[in-house]
Amino acid sequence: MRDLVRQKTSLAEEIEKILNDQIQQEAKASSTYLAMASWCDQHGLANSTEFFYRQSGEERQHMLKIFKYVNDVGGKAISPEITDISQNFNSLRSVFEQALEQEIANTQSINRIVDACYKAKDYTTVNFLQWFLKEQVEEEFIARRALELFDVIGEEGVGLYMIDKKIPDIKYNPE
Ligand SMILES: [Fe+2]
Ligand SMILES: [Fe+2]
Repeated sequence: MRDLVRQKTSLAEEIEKILNDQIQQEAKASSTYLAMASWCDQHGLANSTEFFYRQSGEERQHMLKIFKYVNDVGGKAISPEITDISQNFNSLRSVFEQALEQEIANTQSINRIVDACYKAKDYTTVNFLQWFLKEQVEEEFIARRALELFDVIGEEGVGLYMIDKKIPDIKYNPE
């Protein structure tokens, strides 16, 4: 039988490696958001629960996008192993704080990959990553807006209920 393992690719080894690291990071973000959805559900915060389920699904889509790209250009995508997911949070505010931190870290990570791609003259992957750069603007915006609700509304009394109620209204409109 013919050996079907692809031998030749323009994808540099170091770029393949950092793309696989990013696959791992997106998968970890997906699992973290899932843990956040569970925590919100346990605390009766229905809209926040929905929000984090959706975020978890989006991160999985990001993971798959990179996964397929690596294989499409002749590399070897590695199915990520995920460990150390925090399951407990102190408050809804801390959940959203962690969500924003995660998104900022992800933006920085994509920036570092783009930087490495320029150095390796891998403009194909730079082009592929444009979508992610744009996506991160939206992701950070939404997480920041959610956190602002805590200052605007306050958490006392019906505050937490009002914050949860406002979560589905957060939309990003770049126009
Ligand atoms: Fe992502
Ligand atoms: Fe994200």
